[in-house]
Amino acid sequence: MKPQARTANTSASGKTLVVAATGASGARLGLRFLGHVLGHTGVAKVHFVASEAYRLVLRREEGLDLEAALQNLPHRKKMAVYADAQLDAPIASGSFPVDGTVVIPASMSTVGTLAAGAGRNLCHRAAEVALKEGRTLIVVPRETPLSLIHLRALVTLKEAGATVAPFIPAFYQGPATIEDLMDHFFMRLLDHLGLDSSLSTRWT
Ligand SMILES: Cc1cc2nc3c(=O)[nH]c(=O)nc-3n(C[C@H](O)[C@H](O)[C@H](O)COP(=O)(O)O)c2cc1C
Repeated sequence: MKPQARTANTSASGKTLVVAATGASGARLGLRFLGHVLGHTGVAKVHFVASEAYRLVLRREEGLDLEAALQNLPHRKKMAVYADAQLDAPIASGSFPVDGTVVIPASMSTVGTLAAGAGRNLCHRAAEVALKEGRTLIVVPRETPLSLIHLRALVTLKEAGATVAPFIPAFYQGPATIEDLMDHFFMRLLDHLGLDSSLSTRWT
């Protein structure tokens, strides 16, 4: 059963979000989603944390250094960036007001850790806080095929109140590029965060 939602009372000027990026393939999903939420007029602040494995996968897949890539994002003044070891960051506490948390991409290591309630770093802690406070948590797992252990962990997260949204792209909008596929998916995530979006074409 989903815990009673307790949305944090953040600024009337926009939502406060947490984006946590972990070391699954599809590192570009994390950076591009971060860019979209930073550019969204309904978002006042984005707290960003990436795991060490995310940095590694970003380098391997995109040839990018995370710090340099963050510098190129628009509206970066809206963003606070934390190290994964920074367990005393504001987002580690349930008393810090946050409207929604998105783990994108989510490695199965992070998914399993969250399902076990055994968080060790700030990515884990921020997601655990969302669950314990009954706030919106979206987890974007990236693995195939899924073992029974993976599936059980995802069920546990769903039962605990998370939205489990694997990156399974839609095709009915006629995508021409990988960016089209990602943006349609991001539009759906923004729907779940209560943020208007016309990033892609909707089914009518
Ligand atoms: C290039 C690369 C790709 C990876 N892809 C995946 C993946 O798609 N899914 C996954 O669950 N783990 C993947 N891993 C393994 C994770 O990075 C590893 O389990 C790591 O410990 C996750 O740590 P984190 O959850 O703290 O980010 C990948 C690792 C590398 C180096």
